[in-house]
Amino acid sequence: MANLPVVLSGMRPTGRLHIGNLVGALNNWVKLQDKYKSFYMIADWHALTSEYARSKEISKDIKEMVVDWLAVGINPEKSTIFIQSRVTQHAELHLLLSMITPISWLERCPTYKEQLKEIKDKDLSNYGFLGYPVLQAADILMYKAEIVPIGQDQLPHLELTREICRRFNYLYGEVFPEPKHLFTEVPKILGTDGRKMSKSYNNCIYISDSKEEITKKIKTCYTDPRKIHLGDAGHPEECPIFLLHFIYSFKEKENIKVDCKSGKLGCVDCKKILIKNILLGLDAIHQRRDLIITKKGYINDVLEDGIKKARLVAEKTMQEVRRAVFGEKSERSRES
Ligand code: TRP
Repeated sequence: MANLPVVLSGMRPTGRLHIGNLVGALNNWVKLQDKYKSFYMIADWHALTSEYARSKEISKDIKEMVVDWLAVGINPEKSTIFIQSRVTQHAELHLLLSMITPISWLERCPTYKEQLKEIKDKDLSNYGFLGYPVLQAADILMYKAEIVPIGQDQLPHLELTREICRRFNYLYGEVFPEPKHLFTEVPKILGTDGRKMSKSYNNCIYISDSKEEITKKIKTCYTDPRKIHLGDAGHPEECPIFLLHFIYSFKEKENIKVDCKSGKLGCVDCKKILIKNILLGLDAIHQRRDLIITKKGYINDVLEDGIKKARLVAEKTMQEVRRAVFGEKSERSRES
């Protein structure tokens, strides 16, 4: 394990995870943990950059999210699972990186500009929000991660991480490897109302939804509005049901597509097939989830263990960083 390249990724704690999170990120994380030394981080400080007014609710969101991580197969024996705010070295590295990051890099970051424009219900004119990508750079560089699995939306943050990394190495000597992003191939998923699946739209199928809830959600799910009667031609590419068949109905999906388009397969029957397949697909996850929540203290133990492991690596990096920034003979390095 020691010489394997490091993979690191993080997620803001958003509570229960949905099928979009599963196929968009988690399934990939599960695969990566067999090939690399992997660190999976709960980015609670990142959540705080916009959720500072509801900070007390974050710990519940963390627990719910971790249960889902474990249920889908993130394995604490293979991966280091930890909470960002419990490894306070991240704050120190963030501070040092903030000294060498020009404000203009942050102000022109597309995600920053977009969110300032889009999010109107929160005041985002805070210093921490502008520095969001600097904190992310600290997360990645701390573990000398070479591979960072992310969605397309996070690319500007990875590019900034690389720029900060180069600037650090140029100023203080080669400490950090330049991380590469790894895009997850994300199959398109839509929510039960036909829009993007998102917690804020209240249109999600959650990993932890019961069989009954999933059945009900699919039965009442939006379908192609041009297909009203049996015999009408459907447009499967734009239908949330077909997009789920694409993931959960391996062998049948080609036939379903053809029969939907020709009008032979009606939406009610199509949904029945999906309910059967999706419940089958989630069965192992549900079973593991039930097991996890009955083991008292298990989640806490996993997190405490991960935090301990992450701290060891983080402190080692910080000793190197302090020496690089303040010099071999600095008081700080003699102290430690
Ligand atoms: N910003 C990421 C997101 O919202 C979460 C994150 C924080 C992250 N630190 C990270 C992702 C480090 C990858 C690497 O999805």
